[in-house]
Amino acid sequence: MKEWNSFDKITTGKGMWLIDSKGNRMLDGVASMWCNVWGHSNPELVKAIVNQSKKLQHSSMFNLTNEPAEKLAENLVKISPGMYKVFFSDNGSTAMEIAIKLSLQYWKNIGERKKTKIATIENGYHGDTFGAMSVGYVPEFFGKFKEQLFSTIQFPVPNKYRIPKGFTFSDYQNYCIENIEKKFSKNNNIAAFIMESGAQVAGGVIIYPKGFQRMISKICKKYDVLFVLDEIATGFGRLGSMIQYQEQKSTPDIVAYGKMLTGGYLTMAATLTNKKIYDSYLGEFNDWKHLFHGHTYTGNPIAAAVANENLKMYQKNNLIRRIQKTSKVFEKFYQEISEIDIVGDIRHKGMLMGIELVTNKKKKTPINPKRSINKIFFEEGKKQGIYLRTLGNIVMLVPPLAISEKELDLLLNRTIRTIKAARSKVV
Ligand SMILES: Cc1ncc(COP(=O)(O)O)c(C=O)c1O
Repeated sequence: MKEWNSFDKITTGKGMWLIDSKGNRMLDGVASMWCNVWGHSNPELVKAIVNQSKKLQHSSMFNLTNEPAEKLAENLVKISPGMYKVFFSDNGSTAMEIAIKLSLQYWKNIGERKKTKIATIENGYHGDTFGAMSVGYVPEFFGKFKEQLFSTIQFPVPNKYRIPKGFTFSDYQNYCIENIEKKFSKNNNIAAFIMESGAQVAGGVIIYPKGFQRMISKICKKYDVLFVLDEIATGFGRLGSMIQYQEQKSTPDIVAYGKMLTGGYLTMAATLTNKKIYDSYLGEFNDWKHLFHGHTYTGNPIAAAVANENLKMYQKNNLIRRIQKTSKVFEKFYQEISEIDIVGDIRHKGMLMGIELVTNKKKKTPINPKRSINKIFFEEGKKQGIYLRTLGNIVMLVPPLAISEKELDLLLNRTIRTIKAARSKVV
């Protein structure tokens, strides 16, 4: 905290730009925490908020429902193959807590008491609450709470840039998959396998090789383990497709959405389940099969209204096709970025790029994780007129999804200038 003793105040957002109280403009290179879709102050989204605000601002989802939330549930089920019901919450972490609870209680509901363990892959991230920290355990972030977190079974993840000695990338991918199958075949206590869908984002933009997620999905089915996907950061077009599990040809039992769900305007997340999970919660009151979970703002009508408008705009503007085209701009810059002497690796898919910084390219030595480079990059980025954030030794580029090719070009040019300017301060 000491180094962040003062902050710039953002007063206005216009399109892809953030404007501070002194009038400085920054291109929003992280989509305001990976959630902004259409840019700031979009008139259609603002109108949806204003209109709903005049009708009903909030009413509880206990014993009641409301029109925008019902409509949103319908819309989400329509675009999510295999999904049947929706549980709303107000952020990604809570959506994942619900996913964890739903999957653990499912087995109790059907009278199977042995299945109590959660399996996952290393390096994942699912949020900052206790269940989410346990499943997405990042030692640097959560080490201080280790004693309080529940244990999980973790499997390695194939990161092309850091394959252990003696393996090819494809051998290592097979090794990771075989590890999972071996464990599942010998243990009947695993309730669910939880992973990010398509890529690990906070863990350093690790994009899964083709078939990896599909294989895990298949193994889960084979050994009767629930397959739970976190699409909070990777769904809704971030990786270039609306529903990432569809692109990965995988079949979850439970999936969580958040971030871009409301276009980045209001706080809302959703946990969807298939019919099998939902049906297990049906019973007489005394069967005690219901899920004891609910948040004050569950199903908030204003958030739901803006989410519905957002989904309408995806269709109307053919956003997914547009992302597929715009994201090609990233490719134009591969060479120029990789030639910078502190850049070890570039990982890119759709509207997501991670640039891994190293002190020695040959040895792939990461920048010392104890060095605080976040502020250096933030300040240098600000000088270039971009809002940039690093996570560990990775420069993250996560622009608003509807960014124009011209603005993305500008963002990449300015990112290169930022890395070059920061270079002497970080090595
Ligand atoms: C994959 C993933 N899951 C869950 C979360 C948690 O979402 P929130 O910050 O809205 O709680 C995040 C946040 O970055 C995320 O990237």
